[in-house]
Amino acid sequence: MDQILQGLREATNLHEIVTKRELVPQINLFEFSAKETAAKTKPGQFVILRIDENGERIPLTIAGANVEKGTITVVCHEVGKSTKQLGTLKKGDYILDLLGPLGKPAEIEKFGTVLCVGGGVMTAPLHFQAKAFHEAAHKVIGVIGARTESHLIFEDEMRNVCDELYVATDDGTKGYKGLDFLKELLKKTKTDRVIVMGPVVTMKVVSELTRSHGIPTIVNLIPIMVDGMGMCGACRVTVGGKTLFACVDGPDFDGHLVDFEELMSRLKMFTPQEKLAFVLQEERGGNL
Ligand SMILES: Cc1cc2nc3c(=O)[nH]c(=O)nc-3n(C[C@H](O)[C@H](O)[C@H](O)COP(=O)(O)OP(=O)(O)OC[C@H]3O[C@@H](n4cnc5c(N)ncnc54)[C@H](O)[C@@H]3O)c2cc1C
Ligand code: FES
Repeated sequence: MDQILQGLREATNLHEIVTKRELVPQINLFEFSAKETAAKTKPGQFVILRIDENGERIPLTIAGANVEKGTITVVCHEVGKSTKQLGTLKKGDYILDLLGPLGKPAEIEKFGTVLCVGGGVMTAPLHFQAKAFHEAAHKVIGVIGARTESHLIFEDEMRNVCDELYVATDDGTKGYKGLDFLKELLKKTKTDRVIVMGPVVTMKVVSELTRSHGIPTIVNLIPIMVDGMGMCGACRVTVGGKTLFACVDGPDFDGHLVDFEELMSRLKMFTPQEKLAFVLQEERGGNL
């Protein structure tokens, strides 16, 4: 019977939650069964999943892949209706579909010293890249940040793959307060490339800092996405004056060329609808 059920799930493309772990309140790590995706995944790529037939499409950056087990790992911050619904699922539950890997893989070439800056939930997929840089024998300097100490994730994992690791919090409860210390770090350390994954404001601030040092800086953009295949236009971003689609042309782009103001304003486009969906879901006890 179990074998028949497993066969049916594979035929219908259902994906099992093999692991679910709360990292800090409202941020969960999920390991999904996704054999074909795991076999093709490279750092920097993402998946789009749907919980059920009424579900919104949720893009999430891949934070790890295990080819032998046929699983991929993502880390999701509960920020609204769909991510909160995902947070209610448990180990052994199934989601309806998972599309990916999508987007271009990150460039893991021989650059020399790479500074990897991660903020909030995106520290998890940044670790996937930092690990690849470490394995490719780069010198990896890590900077991880969060609002407060209690929101920090993947500190030990980053420490394991970084030659140096710096921690920063917005309120100074752990490590440096804010990212100002980066100015000194960039002055004293010869850095060949900077990778930034995190809130748009972090990507913007770091890109402005590195511009004056002339250090190539790659930012991982996460605009609103729908199909993830370059057809709907939802994820359009302006880079160096050109309109590009983050899902197929990125999500990695040259941080010195990105129009961050436009990106921030496009991310707020659906705020009233998102708030309404969240409130309705809460009123209906989690069902929408
Ligand atoms: C390529 C990509 C990779 C991402 N990786 C991660 C990740 O690894 N971990 C993680 O926690 N989050 C990630 N996100 C963001 C995540 O997809 C959104 O937080 C989620 O879709 C919000 O859905 P919601 O219904 O819970 O919240 P909503 O209430 O719908 O939205 C809350 C916030 O999320 C943004 N958002 C809403 N829908 C989308 C969408 N379809 N695409 C992008 N942003 C959206 C809104 O601008 C808003 O700021 C990624 C987004 C993209 C595009
Ligand atoms: S998400 Fe539709 S074009 Fe990129």
